[in-house]
Amino acid sequence: MNILITGSNGQLGNEMRVLSAAHGKHTYFFTDVEELDITDKDAVRAFVAENGIELIVNCAAYTNVDKAEEDEATALKINAEAVGILGSQGVKVIHVSTDYVFSGDEHVPCRETDPVAPRTAYGRTKYEGEKLLLAECPEAVILRTAWLYSTYGNNFVKTMIRLGKEKEQLGVVFDQIGTPTYAADLAEAIFTVIESPVWRAGVYHFTNEGVCSWYDFTLAIHELAGISGCQVRPILSEEYQYKTPRPHYSVLDKSKFKKTFDVEIPHWRESLKRCLQTLNG
Ligand SMILES: NC(=O)c1ccc[n+]([C@@H]2O[C@H](COP(=O)([O-])OP(=O)(O)OC[C@H]3O[C@@H](n4cnc5c(N)ncnc54)[C@H](OP(=O)(O)O)[C@@H]3O)[C@@H](O)[C@H]2O)c1
Repeated sequence: MNILITGSNGQLGNEMRVLSAAHGKHTYFFTDVEELDITDKDAVRAFVAENGIELIVNCAAYTNVDKAEEDEATALKINAEAVGILGSQGVKVIHVSTDYVFSGDEHVPCRETDPVAPRTAYGRTKYEGEKLLLAECPEAVILRTAWLYSTYGNNFVKTMIRLGKEKEQLGVVFDQIGTPTYAADLAEAIFTVIESPVWRAGVYHFTNEGVCSWYDFTLAIHELAGISGCQVRPILSEEYQYKTPRPHYSVLDKSKFKKTFDVEIPHWRESLKRCLQTLNG
């Protein structure tokens, strides 16, 4: 298959690039905004036609939650309108969405059929993207994920390693619960969808297994990275003074993905260990 990967300079896009080496039977076209701006309808159409693209994996997005609040129009263009453009090409699409489509007020893991209620501009634009995609391409696969980190790009794991080395004390929120997800595992899940003998359209939830707070996550990062000189203190979200409200509980129920594709998913701590091993080279 000829596969177009958009947003390939990002965390997930880079992990797709790494994993593509193990799936050499396909031809890959890795692009980011410089090679292919997904908001440019004509450019997308021309790229798909000229390269005989049969499947689009959309890793491109406007992911800065605070900036999206200030510039929802741009976020909407990239996270929604462009996703509609990708869906209108008459080819298969795998798209990535987010736990931010939910309110974060839940107390049990969210299923794909649970009502959405985004509380942020980022969440609203991502949900619009899901709707526009399914309107254009009902056979699309949408994977909602959360708390993504990777050896590539800037993310929570790298920030906590840096702060752990710089500071003697650090306050980290303990009233936001979710599941850290190694982008390499999400890339693996995307290849599971691609290699499935039957195309199984639909919305799925995918994160690593387990749950924790950002505070617990930080303790694990420091422990596994061998950082001992920084005292990590649990704080409440209101003490941190976020510009944009964050979901208090955004655990996703992955039963549908595991059952449909017959896979097991690693626990977040095991995946964190693998990520840190790769980071340390
Ligand atoms: N990060 C998380 O914690 C998280 C959580 C839940 C869901 N997700 C979803 O997971 C997916 C992957 O996230 P990620 O963390 O890998 O994102 P990322 O690292 O921010 O990568 C996104 C990439 O898309 C590029 N891009 C932006 N606008 C574009 C355009 N118009 N055309 C083409 N490329 C464009 C970005 O370029 P620039 O950097 O130059 O803008 C960047 O290279 C996204 O759909 C995201 O919404 C992420």
